[in-house]
Amino acid sequence: MTQDIQRVLLSQQEIQDKVVQIGKQISEDYRDKNLILVSILKGSVVFMADLMRAIDIPCEIDFMCVSSYGRGTKTSGVVQIIKDLNINVEGYDILLVEDILDSGMTLSYIIDILSQRNPNSIRVCTLLDKPERRKVDVHAVYSGFHVPDEFVVGYGLDYAEKYRNLPYIGVLKPSVYSNR
Ligand code: IMP
Ligand code: MG
Repeated sequence: MTQDIQRVLLSQQEIQDKVVQIGKQISEDYRDKNLILVSILKGSVVFMADLMRAIDIPCEIDFMCVSSYGRGTKTSGVVQIIKDLNINVEGYDILLVEDILDSGMTLSYIIDILSQRNPNSIRVCTLLDKPERRKVDVHAVYSGFHVPDEFVVGYGLDYAEKYRNLPYIGVLKPSVYSNR
């Protein structure tokens, strides 16, 4: 698996430090709120698992799964709900937990759908952000790292469902996906 990685972009330690920092900030900001963390499957599970343990106020969690990518590395623009929330989020302060904010299409679709369910608020927390690739206007109140426009994997992020279990975030060798 590691032979497919061109270089390590973010080490385990760098990620962990950032997650703790974001968790502290969220704990302060949501102290008197009705927080629910909504993890967008599958990419954000690793981030979610670490982030929720860095938050020290009461909160609930739920999961939503949408698909927009297929097996390629560019967004298809077509977003489909594969698994919806179990909890009725009316009156909740929703914090969407994402692995990476790229074109913004996925999150803008999810925000549209969830705002129709009368939550108290909706905000975005993303570990990674590729701001120069944005196609629709989505802003992450909590954002871990800006990353260059390269395809990254690890810490939950996949290429064709692989590499999610890498403990760090790395840039995939272009040869891995260009010869498909
Ligand atoms: P968006 O709709 O273009 O913002 O796409 C967001 C989703 O695309 C993320 O949740 C990821 O699953 C996927 N994605 C975007 N860029 C990358 C990348 O560099 N590596 C792995 N997945 C990515
Ligand atoms: Mg993905």
